[in-house]
Amino acid sequence: MSAVHFIELENIRYHFPADARPILHNINFAIDRQTVGLIGPNGSGKTTLFHIIMGLLKPTEGKVFFKGEVISGSDQFKTLRREVGFLFQSSDDQLFSPTVIEDVAFGPLNLGHTEEEARQIATAVLDKVGLKGFENRITHKLSGGEKKLVALATILSMDPKLLLLDEPTNNLDPETQSRLVAILDDLNLPYIIISHDWDFLAKTTAELYTLDNGHLVKCREGHIHEHRHIHPYGNRPHHHKEAGP
Ligand SMILES: Nc1ncnc2c1ncn2[C@@H]1O[C@H](COP(=O)(O)OP(=O)(O)OP(=O)(O)O)[C@@H](O)[C@H]1O
Ligand SMILES: [Mg+2]
Repeated sequence: MSAVHFIELENIRYHFPADARPILHNINFAIDRQTVGLIGPNGSGKTTLFHIIMGLLKPTEGKVFFKGEVISGSDQFKTLRREVGFLFQSSDDQLFSPTVIEDVAFGPLNLGHTEEEARQIATAVLDKVGLKGFENRITHKLSGGEKKLVALATILSMDPKLLLLDEPTNNLDPETQSRLVAILDDLNLPYIIISHDWDFLAKTTAELYTLDNGHLVKCREGHIHEHRHIHPYGNRPHHHKEAGP
């Protein structure tokens, strides 16, 4: 390893114990201040890669460096998790408190803020993600899109230095997706976003990678392709951005 990176993966290989084929092969990747998109087929190992970065899965081979130090074991990953906000693919894995304010204030309370401070931080973050007035709503009764935004608020309330967002636009309507683009732009943080939505990634990320048979491959820039399609139903006018460099 030469330069010190915020997070660096060195020769990561991952193999689920019960599975014959390795999911990830020889992944080398560093993140500092970039905005990165990760796109790839279902089951290609995208979420697995995030779980390895967060220390939720231990790589079969290879090392994870955090600020230049190799980390392994849950105590060392705690220091990484303090600075890296991870949005789970499924919001139900992220939310566990009865009310929205309790979920969003949980992180700041854990970091040592007083109840009053935690409540203020949580209220401000809920406002930022467009959920003003949701403080006392029952978390498990929220819609899928509302849960996604609350889950995002729970990580933003911890003042992260890097975001790992696993399919953040799932369940979001087009307007809320646009709002998410604006929120991310406003945060001015580095992040890696897993998504199946090319347009969303084009708007939010500067570099795009895919997982191809377990290998992390950088996508070429400005790949133009013809795109014509017909919607079988639907009378709501809309347009698609033209592909272009
Ligand atoms: N605990 C496990 N044991 C064995 N195989 C697993 C386990 N968890 C996931 N897998 C398999 O590993 C592969 C990669 O899963 P992963 O969730 O990383 O894919 P993904 O790229 O995030 O897919 P999606 O786009 O559907 O979210 C899949 O084939 C999945 O079935
Ligand atoms: Mg996934």
